[in-house]
Amino acid sequence: MNAFRLDNKTVLVTGASSGLGAHIAKVLARQGAKVLLAARRGPQLAEQVDAIRKAGGDAAALSMDVTKPDSVEQAFAEIETEHGGIDVLISNAGVATEPRKFIDTDEDAWQFQLQTNLSGAWRVARAATQQWIASSRPGVVVNVGSIYGLRTGVLKVAYNVSKAGVVQLTRSMAMELVRHNIRVNCLCPGWFLTAINADYFATESGARYEKSIPMGRLGRLEELDGPLLLLASDASSYMTGAELVVDGGMVHKAI
Ligand SMILES: NC(=O)c1ccc[n+]([C@@H]2O[C@H](COP(=O)([O-])OP(=O)(O)OC[C@H]3O[C@@H](n4cnc5c(N)ncnc54)[C@H](OP(=O)(O)O)[C@@H]3O)[C@@H](O)[C@H]2O)c1
Repeated sequence: MNAFRLDNKTVLVTGASSGLGAHIAKVLARQGAKVLLAARRGPQLAEQVDAIRKAGGDAAALSMDVTKPDSVEQAFAEIETEHGGIDVLISNAGVATEPRKFIDTDEDAWQFQLQTNLSGAWRVARAATQQWIASSRPGVVVNVGSIYGLRTGVLKVAYNVSKAGVVQLTRSMAMELVRHNIRVNCLCPGWFLTAINADYFATESGARYEKSIPMGRLGRLEELDGPLLLLASDASSYMTGAELVVDGGMVHKAI
């Protein structure tokens, strides 16, 4: 079980101010990692950092907007000078709009999801990779994809495409970076209740949808812990380019 520990590792988690990212940061800190929590909302980040420190963990906040090249560049400069670089990147920042048909998907909705979920993941992973290669340091990337990168889902074409891009980004990075001792895998959650979907699951349609999940319920955040730690740690030392699905069976359900 020691392979799952993250002692002496520094881990960057993007989108760590709420939801999955905030939970993931706590799990990593409990496994011994120093965790750098990145997002745009400073007060929410400070709250999460505070909670980790109060529980005896090591954490710091980083301001980062993954859609802005300057912001990512500045954050990685700070990572190098203030924190001595990172060992693991959990690329989790992501957004979704309310459900809408393909023909009603306007420029703003398309760009918002593609820029954050796909271009943001590419931008942050490239910055991490550049630092690792420049210092001949090994690295681990866990991209947070979605089952909607692997199957279709109605009324969310831009989101589906962004996450399919994240899956392909994972595979392509994995093949190119294996020679630099950098592993890249993709965690593909199904449905977990967070701010990204809370409005939907409060509706009747959301409740019906929840029942249609093969396991009949949403995932609990702690049910991501094992799969996440596998991909983030040396326990997955022979895995790269893989997708790990955590979804109560949803990815195989016929529509
Ligand atoms: N919840 C699910 O069921 C589910 C299922 C599959 C995949 N996912 C994926 O899991 C990830 C986290 O989602 P969540 O459910 O935890 O939603 P959430 O609670 O809304 O969290 C999204 C996080 O992303 C950050 N973020 C958004 N835009 C950003 C930007 N431009 N720059 C930096 N950070 C940004 C937000 O922080 P700031 O607003 O403070 O910047 C926030 O911390 C997403 O990639 C999502 O697609 C979620």
